[in-house]
Amino acid sequence: MERVYIFDTTLRDGEQSPGASMNVEEKLAIARQLERLRVDIIEAGFPVSSQGDFEAVRAVALAVKECSVAGLARAAVKDIDRAWEALQGGADPRIHTFIATSPIHMRAKLRMEPDQVVEAAVAAVKHACRHTSNVEWSAEDAGRSEMDFLCRIVEAVIDAGARTINIPDTVGYTLPHEFGARIKTLFERVPNIHKAVISVHCHNDLGLAVANSLAAVANGARQVECTINGLGERAGNAALEEVVMALRTRKDIMPFQTRIETTEIIRASKLVSTITGFPVQPNKAIVGANAFAHESGIHQDGMLKNPFTYEIMTPESVGLTTNRMVLGKLSGRHAFADKLTSLGYQLTPEQIDQAFVRFKEIADKKRELADEDVEALVDDEVIRRSDHYQLRKLHLATGTQDTPMAAVEMTIDGAVQTGESRGNGSVEAVFNAIDKLIPAAKEAKLQLYQVNAVTKGIDAQAEVTVRLDWQGGAVNGQGIDYDVIHASAKAYINALNKLVNKRAKTQDDSGSGGV
Ligand code: KIV
Ligand code: ZN
Repeated sequence: MERVYIFDTTLRDGEQSPGASMNVEEKLAIARQLERLRVDIIEAGFPVSSQGDFEAVRAVALAVKECSVAGLARAAVKDIDRAWEALQGGADPRIHTFIATSPIHMRAKLRMEPDQVVEAAVAAVKHACRHTSNVEWSAEDAGRSEMDFLCRIVEAVIDAGARTINIPDTVGYTLPHEFGARIKTLFERVPNIHKAVISVHCHNDLGLAVANSLAAVANGARQVECTINGLGERAGNAALEEVVMALRTRKDIMPFQTRIETTEIIRASKLVSTITGFPVQPNKAIVGANAFAHESGIHQDGMLKNPFTYEIMTPESVGLTTNRMVLGKLSGRHAFADKLTSLGYQLTPEQIDQAFVRFKEIADKKRELADEDVEALVDDEVIRRSDHYQLRKLHLATGTQDTPMAAVEMTIDGAVQTGESRGNGSVEAVFNAIDKLIPAAKEAKLQLYQVNAVTKGIDAQAEVTVRLDWQGGAVNGQGIDYDVIHASAKAYINALNKLVNKRAKTQDDSGSGGV
């Protein structure tokens, strides 16, 4: 079977989702999971866009050994050199350079004539090839580009040395048969096309990103760019889990293979959701909480008689298992460390000790900890590890007749500080007390507050998501705790940490912005 390469851009296009910005530590945690998932290429960021992004790409490039790591660059020497600076030394670095090719982008955004765009694209690819032969070139807004021009520029950049040619549907405009036909036409009309791998990168504005990607594969594309949970600019990108499971489930008419370890899909989905603070909708294909739940009597009856009546893939194939060993209050450090290893974590002894203390606290309250609980508590530690602001203690006094009163003790850039406040409700009192200690909180407006349970039952851990509006953009924070008020405080502080990072990133941004 022919291979389809999976290029994951959760850390670059995914990070461009409003509110999804990640710090270096968080990007590294996701990159390690993507490596376990065995994606072929990880696009780790856009190094010239900010010092933070540069450092994240550098850290990922050096940490990841089993996948190629890519950095994005516009068609400019400065971008390409900065991308290379971040990537070099990695196991298999790739420079990904792009320029827009649609009439509207060339005219209104670039203010360039088509000939100039070809010249700039060729020069960019040639410059990137001085650093590495692993060069990918993208035609931004290819979905709306004129076909003659697209064929011309693709031929020119392949001649210049690009070994992967990416055809994005940047604005999610095309329909599957139309997008598939574009790929087919490229194969028919570009004479040197077989010297490159043809890739696609579809956005989901019309909900067609996955369908368009599959149509492209059916017509010759052999790399799909996608993101975990379909994260990405606006309505997002093609969801990796959907593309991969569609190819795996429908091998009968799509005889292609990926090297993805599908049993790592759920774990990847949860980690990305926890870190970005974007909850996964329950009915989301493959990774939603209801994706394998059968509610109606007729369905349950069919499932008991033969699971294939209503199940086209097994929950186990994406990493959902039911007969997992649960840990409890009497489990020791050894069993806990074994569990972490079986869940794919690679933690230092100090990190295991920290997580074990947290595990014992929760196990004192909750009789049995399922894998989801262990993952939630470890991911929560990852989120908080490099935060400027950390919660140390929280006290809340409330009652049906009383105005809630909260006191918080926090570490703020290493120093311990305390704050107190009242509020109309318990969560408001806690947030007000935190606001007293973090001046940046005054710049933000609470947009969303949401609580989910990590597992079923009264003793489930709470997962709280908080979204703050800041200067027209958003930041998301997440907190997990046995106690919903503590989880709320952690989520709010996490969002404030992100806001401060975003503010710093905006200040050191070299003016290139996002893509
Ligand atoms: O959507 C797009 O066109 C992109 C390119 C930079 C690949 O993200
Ligand atoms: Zn994109």
